[in-house]
Amino acid sequence: MIEVRALTKSFRDKKRGTFRAVDELSFDCPGGPVFGLLGLNGAGKTTTLRVLATMLKPDSGTAKLAGFDLLDDPESVRRKIGFLTGNTGLYLRLTGREILHYFGQLEGMTRKAVDARITIFSQLLDMESFLDTRVDKYSTGMKQKVSIARTLIHDPPVLILDEPTLGLDVVTSRAIVEFIRAAKTDGKAVIFSTHHMHEAARLCDTIGVIHEGRMKRLATLADLKREYATEDLDTIFLRIIADGRP
Ligand SMILES: Nc1ncnc2c1ncn2[C@@H]1O[C@H](COP(=O)(O)OP(=O)(O)OP(=O)(O)O)[C@@H](O)[C@H]1O
Ligand SMILES: [Mg+2]
Repeated sequence: MIEVRALTKSFRDKKRGTFRAVDELSFDCPGGPVFGLLGLNGAGKTTTLRVLATMLKPDSGTAKLAGFDLLDDPESVRRKIGFLTGNTGLYLRLTGREILHYFGQLEGMTRKAVDARITIFSQLLDMESFLDTRVDKYSTGMKQKVSIARTLIHDPPVLILDEPTLGLDVVTSRAIVEFIRAAKTDGKAVIFSTHHMHEAARLCDTIGVIHEGRMKRLATLADLKREYATEDLDTIFLRIIADGRP
């Protein structure tokens, strides 16, 4: 579902001048439908995901999502993906339900179709109790749940999720992890970034460790566990970052 080819994205800032946040990054998601992108702060995860979601133009390289090329056909890519990022905006004066209807309409959905999706999200993410409350009264977790539902209202086949559990408590994080598992069972492809290794371990078929804009290691989770002779993804991750050797 996702093929990335020599993606490069540079930024310029005063201190560093021009530097490559993403540097000739190539990867496929071979081992199964859920791909976890791991890396230290500043490694290039968000930049990569923003490029894949057509929010940022790469300087060079390209990628295919669900069969469509990022550069040749960004519109089709956009229709096939749902992109959750830290600044997925919500209108504070609307209720969660109103927001979902608003974005569903933008996607060309009927009211009935949106209602059906809301019922599903409401069950999977336990949203019923606050869907009719205004967003300005929401906690971080409630906002994140509505953001996820808004991102995926049109039921896209490819989910791109940048740190979907950032700042969430154990119960809410678990609900979101279970939601991603259900999406996988439902036949979706998922690419997500996280700093929570136990979540990556629960969800991922394939792991990519990105370091300074490059893919330092890409392997199935099963192969990594075998190779490093441990179940502990924290340990595996730290070793990959340190020198890459088991
Ligand atoms: N718009 C921008 N302008 C300048 N530099 C940027 C911009 N966006 C990202 N960067 C830089 O690019 C590099 C990669 O950032 P990115 O946000 O992709 O990292 P990340 O892996 O998502 O990190 P984190 O785990 O902290 O979210 C960092 O050095 C960051 O400072
Ligand atoms: Mg990030």
